[in-house]
Amino acid sequence: MSVAKKQYKRITTKSLVEMKANGEKIAMLTAYDYTMAQIVDGAGIDVILVGDSASNVMAGHETTLPITLDQMIYHAASVVRGIERSLVVVDLPFGSYQSDPKEALRSAIRIMKESGGHAVKMEGGKEIKESIKKILNAGIPVMGHLGLTPQSIYKFGTYTVRAKEDQEAEKLKEDALLLEKLGCFAMVLEKVPAKLAKEVAESVSIPIIGIGAGNGVDGQVLVTHDMLGMNHVFNPRFLRRYADLHGEMTKAFEGYKNDVKSKNFPTDEEQY
Ligand code: KIV
Repeated sequence: MSVAKKQYKRITTKSLVEMKANGEKIAMLTAYDYTMAQIVDGAGIDVILVGDSASNVMAGHETTLPITLDQMIYHAASVVRGIERSLVVVDLPFGSYQSDPKEALRSAIRIMKESGGHAVKMEGGKEIKESIKKILNAGIPVMGHLGLTPQSIYKFGTYTVRAKEDQEAEKLKEDALLLEKLGCFAMVLEKVPAKLAKEVAESVSIPIIGIGAGNGVDGQVLVTHDMLGMNHVFNPRFLRRYADLHGEMTKAFEGYKNDVKSKNFPTDEEQY
């Protein structure tokens, strides 16, 4: 069943703002490669995020910090080759935009030129204001990211829910208004209380895409490998699994192994 209010041939940053104005929720998922991007795009997902979660999911790092700009560009270019309709947003990785606005702009330009992605995503508010401005001034759309910002994990010390205390909640609200004022077209709110996320969503006209931020926001994002159940170890409360691919894939690999070992594969029909 489709609940889209308007058919979009291609999703743009403008479509997302329009969706919010029309009360249509935005569906966003991650992808890091061509094949997955083709499937996600074909399923009608509005936004594909080439997240720096590739650092964890694809490369097996404990955090998102090690992934490089070159590696993000490789993933993003693969995704762009697989899509027809979705908007592709690419994470600026840790270390590629925090030092100064000129370097931030250089990094964003590399992503746009070398991957063909449609927008960049950056973690933080006031602290990175000048970098966001510089990138926006170059005509590159920026998606913000507030709340739990995994690139700052060593500052937080934990992946627990953010902005539960008044002071942090106030800063988050101020940052959200600032991102809107600067000209960001949307922002991710990660792991914050649902009541706060709803308040933020109602205070700005740009879409708020939540992950672990409740149902009062304008859209949702999940890491595709998590929602497909490709791992069994990551179990946050906000994660809904739509498949058990870990189980299905294990069954398929074991079936193949057994067929090879028992000389049941290939058969006469499967050879030349
Ligand atoms: O890198 C990522 O996948 C993300 C999402 C969790 C929002 O930033």
